[in-house]
Amino acid sequence: MTQSLLTEAQRQKLDASSDELFYAQPRFVQHLDGAFRSRLTQLYRERLKPGSAVLDLMGSWVSHLPEELSFGEVIGHGLNGQELAANPRLSRHFVQNLNVNQQLPLEDRCLDAVLIVAGWQYLQQPEAVAAELKRVLRGGGQLIVAFSNRMFAQKAPQVWLDGSDRDHLDYVAKVLAHGGWLIEAVIAEDTKPEGPLGWLGGKGDPFFAVVAQRP
Ligand SMILES: C[S@@+](CC[C@H](N)C(=O)[O-])C[C@H]1O[C@@H](n2cnc3c(N)ncnc32)[C@H](O)[C@@H]1O
Repeated sequence: MTQSLLTEAQRQKLDASSDELFYAQPRFVQHLDGAFRSRLTQLYRERLKPGSAVLDLMGSWVSHLPEELSFGEVIGHGLNGQELAANPRLSRHFVQNLNVNQQLPLEDRCLDAVLIVAGWQYLQQPEAVAAELKRVLRGGGQLIVAFSNRMFAQKAPQVWLDGSDRDHLDYVAKVLAHGGWLIEAVIAEDTKPEGPLGWLGGKGDPFFAVVAQRP
C-alpha cells in the first residue's frame, strides 16, 4: 500500500482535461537547451553502466544518453507514440498515462536504471509511481530524476506550481525517501552555453537532479 504525502488539492492541475489530448500531437522539439542536455548526458556517463537495462520514463524522441555507451535495452515510455517511435535509442516503447494508471507493464526487478527528464513535474500520483519504479528496478538500481525551471504550467499539479526550484528538489527527494529509496545525490547547478554566449557569462537552463538508489 502506497502512503500518500500530497493532499488532493496539491494533485490538481489548471487544465484537468486528459493528458492524452495534450500530448496527441507530436512535438519534435528540444524541451531543454544544449547546456542542460550536455550536463545531463555527463551525469548519465558517470552513473549508467554499459550493457544495463534502462527505462526512459516520460520520454520523447530524444533520450540524452551518451552516444558512445551501449545498453542491453532502452525501453521508452511516454504519451506520444510518434515521438517514441522516432527515438533512435529505444529498443521498444509503450504509451501509458501515469496519472490514470501507475502499474507498469514490466516484470519485477527487470531494470538497472530509470530516467525521468522534465517529467516528474506532471505526476499527480508520484508516490504510486515511485513505488512501481521500486518494483521494476533491481536492488542497487538507480533512479535519476532531472528537471529545469520550465514546465507546461497548465499540466503541472499544484504542488509543483507552488514551489521554488529548491522546493522541487526537496519535494522529489522527500517522496522518494518516504518510499524507502536511498537518496544518493541532490544536484543544483547553473549551466553555461557553449561558444560566445558562454564566454560572455550567459547562462543556460539550470540543472536540477535527484539520484536515488533502490535498496
Ligand atoms: C517536457 S516533455 C519531456 C520529454 C523528454 N523526457 C525529454 O527530455 O525531451 C514531458 C513528457 O512527459 C510525458 N508525460 C506528461 N504527462 C504524462 C502522463 N500523464 N503520463 C505519462 N507521461 C506523461 C510526455 O510524454 C512528455 O513527453
